[in-house]
Amino acid sequence: MTQISNVLVIGCGGAGLRAAIEAKKSGLDVCILGKRPRTDSHTVLAAGGINASFGNLDSEDTWEQHFIDTYLEGYGLGNPRKIEIMAKEAPLLVKEIDDWGANLEKLKNGKFDQRYFGAHKYRRTCYAGDFTGLSILKALLKQAQKLNIPIYDQQYVSELLVKDNVCFGALSFNIFSSERTVHQADAVIICTGGHTRLWKKSSSRKNENTGDGYYLALMAGCGLIDMEMVQFHPSGMVLPQDIEGTLVTEAVRGEGGKLFNKNGERFMVNYDSERMELSTRDRVAIANYTEIIEGRGTKNGAVLLDISHKSKEFIINKLPSIYRQFLETQMVDISKYPMEVAPTAHYSMGGVLINPDDSSTSVEGLFAAGEVAGGLHGANRLGGNSLAEILVFGKRAGIASANYSKKLNQQQRSSKSINLAHENINKLIKSGNQIIRCLQHELRIIMWENCGVIKNKELLIEGKKRIEILKSKINDIDVRIDENNCQDLVLACDLKSSILSAEATIISALERNESRGAHQRSDFKKENSSFDFNCLVKIDKETQNLEIYKSKLKKLNKEVENLVRNASRDDDIRNKLLE
Ligand code: FUM
Repeated sequence: MTQISNVLVIGCGGAGLRAAIEAKKSGLDVCILGKRPRTDSHTVLAAGGINASFGNLDSEDTWEQHFIDTYLEGYGLGNPRKIEIMAKEAPLLVKEIDDWGANLEKLKNGKFDQRYFGAHKYRRTCYAGDFTGLSILKALLKQAQKLNIPIYDQQYVSELLVKDNVCFGALSFNIFSSERTVHQADAVIICTGGHTRLWKKSSSRKNENTGDGYYLALMAGCGLIDMEMVQFHPSGMVLPQDIEGTLVTEAVRGEGGKLFNKNGERFMVNYDSERMELSTRDRVAIANYTEIIEGRGTKNGAVLLDISHKSKEFIINKLPSIYRQFLETQMVDISKYPMEVAPTAHYSMGGVLINPDDSSTSVEGLFAAGEVAGGLHGANRLGGNSLAEILVFGKRAGIASANYSKKLNQQQRSSKSINLAHENINKLIKSGNQIIRCLQHELRIIMWENCGVIKNKELLIEGKKRIEILKSKINDIDVRIDENNCQDLVLACDLKSSILSAEATIISALERNESRGAHQRSDFKKENSSFDFNCLVKIDKETQNLEIYKSKLKKLNKEVENLVRNASRDDDIRNKLLE
């Protein structure tokens, strides 16, 4: 089957929907493909809120301060232009999504309520209870429906169609029937999320965030930056085992939750005595991790997060999902008892290298937005910035892809590329001795053990070797499909993507011989100012091997440099960045 559109969006989460809406508004044919049900994309798991510097509770807040917080707490690795765009445009887009029905919490005066989130100088995080992502997703879906944008959410994209560095579509198959579709398009936008399901403890669910967007981008010829920067959220559930890693939103700490070790010590005083539980995610995650591995955790390998000093009414009002989550999965009433939590792989801060102004990649006609794209968060992401990111850069990608399509004189096509993409799927379908789920499980253990919260050269090299062995087993995987079941093929494609993404992560982590933000090395414990670059990974066209490069950090422009110079916080970090 062949399907033709002007703009093809891959991924039906928040970034994909926002991009599609904008492209459609400019009068073009737009089509969205997704591998998960549209109402259940990963966006629903972004719980606690979305940042915009309205200054509704703290009138001193400004976009400049939002910039400063994001840039400085990203340890200077974020792209200043990308951060500036997000900080400036977030208020408009938050207002817009609320107008579209996101139903964000309001103050008595009708303005948005804003809660504290870690390391934001002011209360800046707008929210809908603790289900903000879900509210935003629903509003976007409503808008997409109004505009009659077709969403095919049973499609797995196995490959982008590229010729002479121009992207002209993608090949997908139906995840139930295996029927294939060649999608021809002027422009393609990847909005496929990250790769944190590759870790044993992960806040992503089965079959999501498997690194498929990174695979598509790398194979198409794009570069990936900052892949070593994987955010471990401080609080994931530890029980029951089958949902280990499930997120316990930062909103719990934002609303006053306190962390204790098994001895009843409020240990954050030893890690960031000023900001305590509202320190940056990297610091709180490392604190929780350290308490646990040094023997001050509970017998289930956790620290305690306690909000029981607040009233039950308050908790049910502000944190309804978390209240229910603990009742349903552990029969724990969090208005009476603390929660057991431990770090969990949560967010890929690196990703596809894009131009922040238009979300374009180095491949013509190919754009990327949302978690799959890199550059915004540097070495540490502030909670609440991801939902701002998907709206701001989703919109920009939609506009830019539409402009690109309108200006196109000649459409690229290549039957050779299409045939090759079919061939690559055909090669996977055969009987074998390796079970994919087992290999996925093995990969998750490797990433947790060898590329986890704290790493070192020895662990990483061993991890690389273990992945090599795993990779050699791919040739012998068992992939059987029939007209009712195509799950093996989905898993096979996911596994290929996951392995490539894991390799990109490990070689980047090996390149960065320092500790910075989420990248913690026990053999290089300090930040080192000579590591003032972004790691960039690409595929060598000849050898098909991954190659690593150092990409010079983007400089602050004068206006922004002055902002940082005058920032009224964290002198140490600021001085280092301005050195
Ligand atoms: O903790 C949270 O609610 C997560 C939010 C985020 O990652 O932005």
